[in-house]
Amino acid sequence: MSFITFKHICKRYPGAETDTVKDFNMEIEEKEFIAFVGPSGCGKSTTLRMVAGFEEITGGELYIGGKKMNEVAPRDRGIAMVFQNYALYPHMTVEKNIGYGLKNMKLPADEIKKKVDWAIKILGLEEYRYRKPKNLSGGQRQRVALGRAIVKDQKVFLMDEPLSNLDAKLRVSMRTEISKLHRELGATTIYVTHDQVEAMTMADRIVIMKEGVVQQAGRPMELYDHPANQFVAGFIGSPQMNFFDVTVKGDQMEFSGGSHMTIPAEVLEKLKGKQGNMVFGIRGEDIRMDAQSLEACGKEQMKAVITDTEVMGNENNLYFTFGGAQAVARVSKYDLHQMGDEITFTFVPSKMHFFDRETGVNYVEA
Ligand SMILES: Nc1ncnc2c1ncn2[C@@H]1O[C@H](COP(=O)(O)OP(=O)(O)O)[C@@H](O)[C@H]1O
Ligand SMILES: [Mg+2]
Repeated sequence: MSFITFKHICKRYPGAETDTVKDFNMEIEEKEFIAFVGPSGCGKSTTLRMVAGFEEITGGELYIGGKKMNEVAPRDRGIAMVFQNYALYPHMTVEKNIGYGLKNMKLPADEIKKKVDWAIKILGLEEYRYRKPKNLSGGQRQRVALGRAIVKDQKVFLMDEPLSNLDAKLRVSMRTEISKLHRELGATTIYVTHDQVEAMTMADRIVIMKEGVVQQAGRPMELYDHPANQFVAGFIGSPQMNFFDVTVKGDQMEFSGGSHMTIPAEVLEKLKGKQGNMVFGIRGEDIRMDAQSLEACGKEQMKAVITDTEVMGNENNLYFTFGGAQAVARVSKYDLHQMGDEITFTFVPSKMHFFDRETGVNYVEA
């Protein structure tokens, strides 16, 4: 049974002419880790704050554990929250900061100590127990903020960009720590981020939003391999999926600039007779230059000249202009192509996407 249910949830801020969050529907299972992701201003925080009870729900119904929450006060919703700007109390030690909320809840002192000890241990803060925030690193402070939330022993965890203030390296290690914490505690978690990598690496399921509207919800690889529309295709994955304006006529795909290729039968089948102008999408790693792929595709080989290369260490990005667009192929670090080289390439048929030029709908997934 669904543990958190969004039923036609809408949000209109006072004085606004349109809804900031539009008809949000979702069922979240107990213990799931859900990421809300999307560009800044798309309504992620607003949705999360409606779950927390800090923001009024102006349309629809929200249920947690089967109980309608619309009118329930934040402290009675059974949630704990971590924000980007987790203001720790500067004059309090780590242990006092972590236990502060419990003291407010009027728990007996020995029980508070037990919970604080547990949180300090699980977060690896033993050494810092008596330090004040100004003597902690950013990552340690963030762990204290997490500690404050986990001691509350709530069934739902809400996090709003909790790692955005940390430097890149720390973000990566905190990602793993939060995932581990989630496995240990099992609290149902909603995690808001604008960073698609965080969403991909941490979440059981991702909800992608744009302008207050859910674009797609699903497991990370579902979204990566089967994007419902061009926005999702472009948002998930780095470097971004390559997009080309093409015209499909019969079994031919024509790129602007004259190149054309025969569309493989399995792709034609998925296109279900769609013809005309559309956007062709292919990820960098699905542009192939190896002998085996080229042989498999027979005469359907394209040519281009590399205009730029990016050495990533584990792999290389090769940039080239093709079909009137700038494109990038991702190849192994053992690939020795260089700037100025002519490449011959083909596309992995099962990874070819075709989007409606107006609505962005992915024809091969629709
Ligand atoms: N208190 C508010 N009053 C009016 N508009 C708001 C308020 N908070 C946020 N907004 C607007 O709602 C939209 C979504 O904001 P938000 O939910 O914070 O987006 P995100 O978290 O995805 O960046 C933005 O256009 C923002 O300006
Ligand atoms: Mg936000």
